[in-house]
Amino acid sequence: MRKRFIAGNWKLNLTAAEGVALVQGLAKTLPTDGRSARAEVAVCPTALALSEVAKAAAGTAVGVGGQNCHWEEKGAFTGEVSASLLKAAGARYVIIGHSERRQFFGETDQTVNKRLKAALAQGLVPIVCVGETLPERDGGKLQEVLTRQVKGAIEGMQASQLESLVVAYEPVWAIGTGRTATSAQAQEAHAFIRGLLTQALGVLATRVRIQYGGSVKPDNAHELLSMPDVDGALVGGASLKLADFAAICAAAYSDTPAKAAP
Ligand code: PGA
Repeated sequence: MRKRFIAGNWKLNLTAAEGVALVQGLAKTLPTDGRSARAEVAVCPTALALSEVAKAAAGTAVGVGGQNCHWEEKGAFTGEVSASLLKAAGARYVIIGHSERRQFFGETDQTVNKRLKAALAQGLVPIVCVGETLPERDGGKLQEVLTRQVKGAIEGMQASQLESLVVAYEPVWAIGTGRTATSAQAQEAHAFIRGLLTQALGVLATRVRIQYGGSVKPDNAHELLSMPDVDGALVGGASLKLADFAAICAAAYSDTPAKAAP
């Protein structure tokens, strides 16, 4: 069984105090009864707020993650944050290769691969983001782009190293635009990604969680999560609002059966 996983990507938003308040409010809404095993919830604050948010989240059902990590552990890399520093600050997860990093900060499939190795070496759960732009989709290149990004991310790695891998399918045209992929479009891309993972990792691919990201909101979360290969969500804008994020998490804990690994 794949446990659903909802992660909030706060991007460049929220002070430590605002993040602490949000996590404290969120933690109160998460189930503590038998339903708690159905899903996993995390938030990814800025590096500067991470430590305080992690302290506030300790002992609750909310995990904390970084938004990026450098591939070197330490050294002369001004402005960077390493996987080991994230871990020391209380992170359990790290987002890698978000489309905004690819678009604005020169992230490539090669640097995603290096960051992924560094994250795994520190025992962080990596959330590797992939997804096509609108011209790529319209040009019939969806599968080509996903193949390049997924294969590039895990290049040279063994299945045994990737047991904790989480992939986030985030069509770039759906991020922050209010234009969500339909559940059928999400399912098609997720199934394709799972096929790529099966080629590379064999049976482990049935255990890899694939999140959907791109304008996930309380009113579309349930339908997206009901698709067989949609195992969770990476949520940007709606994760900044307690009521919205709590409602999305509630959809993940709801009684729609979690998906059985085939
Ligand atoms: P959005 O962002 O939910 O605001 O579209 C998702 C993401 O970029 O991870």
